[in-house]
Amino acid sequence: MDFRIQTASLDALAAINADALVVVIAGEALPAGLDAGVAALAKDAIKLGDFELKAGKTLTLQRPAGLKAPRLVLVAAGKPTLKAARAALQAALAQLKGRGVAQAAVALLGFEASTESLAEQFVLASQDAFYVYRHTKPSAPAPSKLAKLSLLVDKADAAAAKAAKAGLAQGLAIGAGIELARECANRPGNHATPTFLGEQTKALGKSHGLKVEVLDKKAVEKLGMGSFLSVAQGSDEPLRFIVAQYQGAAKTQAPLVLVGKGITFDSGGISLKPGAGMDEMKFDMGGAASVLGTMRAIAEIKPKLNVVMLIAACENMPSGHAVKPGDVVTSMSGQTIENLNTDAEGRLILCDALTYAERFKPAAVVDVATLTGACVIALGGVRSGMYASDDELAGALMAAGDAALDPCWRMPLDEEYEEGLKSNFADVANVAGREGGSITAAKFLQRFASKYRWAHLDIAGTAWKGGAAKGGTGRPVGLLTHFLLSQVQGR
Ligand code: BES
Ligand code: MN
Ligand code: ZN
Repeated sequence: MDFRIQTASLDALAAINADALVVVIAGEALPAGLDAGVAALAKDAIKLGDFELKAGKTLTLQRPAGLKAPRLVLVAAGKPTLKAARAALQAALAQLKGRGVAQAAVALLGFEASTESLAEQFVLASQDAFYVYRHTKPSAPAPSKLAKLSLLVDKADAAAAKAAKAGLAQGLAIGAGIELARECANRPGNHATPTFLGEQTKALGKSHGLKVEVLDKKAVEKLGMGSFLSVAQGSDEPLRFIVAQYQGAAKTQAPLVLVGKGITFDSGGISLKPGAGMDEMKFDMGGAASVLGTMRAIAEIKPKLNVVMLIAACENMPSGHAVKPGDVVTSMSGQTIENLNTDAEGRLILCDALTYAERFKPAAVVDVATLTGACVIALGGVRSGMYASDDELAGALMAAGDAALDPCWRMPLDEEYEEGLKSNFADVANVAGREGGSITAAKFLQRFASKYRWAHLDIAGTAWKGGAAKGGTGRPVGLLTHFLLSQVQGR
């Protein structure tokens, strides 16, 4: 898709030359200064009862009188917020899909959100609407005809045009990151293996100038990652520990480290999961996919920052070699762990990655994981669970989620939640009771993250959708990218 910013007089939309002119209107009244021809058509449609200035309402008019464009798509957004703009854009794109429209021009009128963020969401909503998974589905629908989308900005407002261009560029970078994350997550477990994730990272490193190292079992053994190794040992699919580095600031500047859970299939191991819906556990590398996508976005935006990405990737499978309930393993940190449930494997691979992160003397570490079913129960698919050892870091992640329309919600880390992780046979157990399951998982991780500012995102509810729209969402690439950009010094 080709995205552009087009300057125009908003009182002369009738002259816009496109297959479809899309006018998105916020608020309950037609905006002052709206093109007279468009306003007359809208007023008439409202009078006829065919259109209303209420969120979600759309109307497509063919060969609208007095307009150069052969189609006019009116879309009401309701509130003047960024979130309402995204929903309205989604409704507008649904109107354009599957039609003879090859190029469309979109005007967003009456919004209070910044032009920059509106332009970003303009790109993201469009890319989302037109993403089609194809890799293992030759019968997937042909690509949409729509090839060119222009965002119209007021010709008289030079600052708006500049902001729109910046927002468009940021949207393209984040959009590319989201697409990479979705594509990796959607590919089935027999395609998206740990080896594949390593290869994808290497390819990104080559195309975008990242330093990449992919460690195999031997190297991981040498590092002493006994906890990570214990999860991988039940599978014939070789593990990978993937390191990618983006350098945009002086080498002396402490990096931000992102850590992703890369379980490419979670059967539960010996504590086997029930069969129904088990296929969705191919998405258990959603954390890894999102940190990889974020690296792509960052490598395109090129901020003055240093960022390190770590992915621990393996399968969690039952076999004669698999780790058993009751087994005790020694993590890279030296702490021993009693495995009381082999299905609580995510924390077992993340804890060694968190210890590995220490060597970078990081400014902060954020791990991202489809960690617990309990988080899905707590927050559903709207907000990711966010835990932080530091209020400032929590505030920055919260603000980034809101700005990116990829929201999270802070969860508690009171020490009482750690009680249940006590073990008679090791320093710590990998599970506590059922209550507060997302929190006790975070408490487990916190034991391995004491050397730096740390946050954890439990994305079990937000990384993918089930049902008819089954597929990866690319979340939280938007949140993470906005967060990293907020950490640029002197910004
Ligand atoms: N990958 C799952 C978490 C998950 C479950 C994500 C459902 C999305 C939907 C994780 O490895 C897991 O199995 N967690 C267990 C932990 C339990 C054994 C303490 C869970 O949540 O049931
Ligand atoms: Mn599991
Ligand atoms: Zn898992």
